[in-house]
Amino acid sequence: MTTTALADTARAIVAGGKGVLAADETPRTLTQRLAARTIESTAETRRAYREMFFTTPGISEFIGGVILQDETIHQRSSTGTPLVDLLAQEGITPGIKVDNGARPLAGSPGERVTEGLDGLRDRLAAYRDMGARFAKWRAVIGIGEGLPTAGCVNANAHALARYAALCQEEGLVPIVEPEVLMDGAHTIDRSEQVTGRVLQAVFDALFEQNVSLEGMLLKPNMVIAGQDCERQASVEEVATATLRTLSRHVPPAVPAIVFLSGGQDHVLATKHLGAINQVGGPKPWKLSYSYGRALQDEALEVWDGRSENVPAGQHAFYHRAKCDSAAALGRYRTEMESEAASA
Ligand code: 13P
Repeated sequence: MTTTALADTARAIVAGGKGVLAADETPRTLTQRLAARTIESTAETRRAYREMFFTTPGISEFIGGVILQDETIHQRSSTGTPLVDLLAQEGITPGIKVDNGARPLAGSPGERVTEGLDGLRDRLAAYRDMGARFAKWRAVIGIGEGLPTAGCVNANAHALARYAALCQEEGLVPIVEPEVLMDGAHTIDRSEQVTGRVLQAVFDALFEQNVSLEGMLLKPNMVIAGQDCERQASVEEVATATLRTLSRHVPPAVPAIVFLSGGQDHVLATKHLGAINQVGGPKPWKLSYSYGRALQDEALEVWDGRSENVPAGQHAFYHRAKCDSAAALGRYRTEMESEAASA
């Protein structure tokens, strides 16, 4: 695939205020989320859960791409269509999580590095043959006393860049996800400092590995105080700090930035995105979403593992995606929450 084709794919995913649904939880993670609501987790219940999202009527208005997990990309819908084809038929670009998870980083207690580069070229080719058009790799960086270390930041940046270069070689758009975690009691200033440093290291590594910036998407955290910090920043502060950090460290050639939600409350994640698109300042990239929990949580609660609740779960998902898409276009208003809820 040419660089132009990769850039076209990247732009199509976020066209017109669309964003990405991250539905790539591993069976283990999804089992934990289902167990928290005493819903049994089997390959079949996980398929039914994902199918609820993928078949939500009209959802392609707001969702331009879905990140699948290895189990899901091999599954078929209740009517026998491969889930990946079902998405493509609706005009939603299918993607695939390809990292093997974050493991303890040797020599750096308390830090992790994401693994999965061995054999990645062949896995990417196989996923492409199955219909995936983009991929995702997540690095996790924690903030703590003396953390992150340069060793952790650079090891993760290097792995992200090796992954991104392999994706582009195999014709897949890489979503590059360096997540600075919101776990801890750090201030928003510290989050800004660490996020800036991480983004700088990631783009240095991407440059070194000859990654085409036009043919990728960046999936960062927002700049936010740690969840245990006594002073939580206002929505405007988060928006201003996030935009300032991105403008300092993300080249304008990147077509779009699709934020992760990272454990934020779903309405707050919408408000933050809306404010990021409303505050002044240079915005050379589209600023949209690639939320997992923030897009799924309400629907999961309403669904509760019961097939008769699928339409209500779809209604909840449609509403949240509609609000997030309005936020990506800078048109979100808090009143939309009650308007759509009563619809
Ligand atoms: P959250 O939005 O729940 O953080 O998930 C996004 C994601 O893909 C994490 O890798």
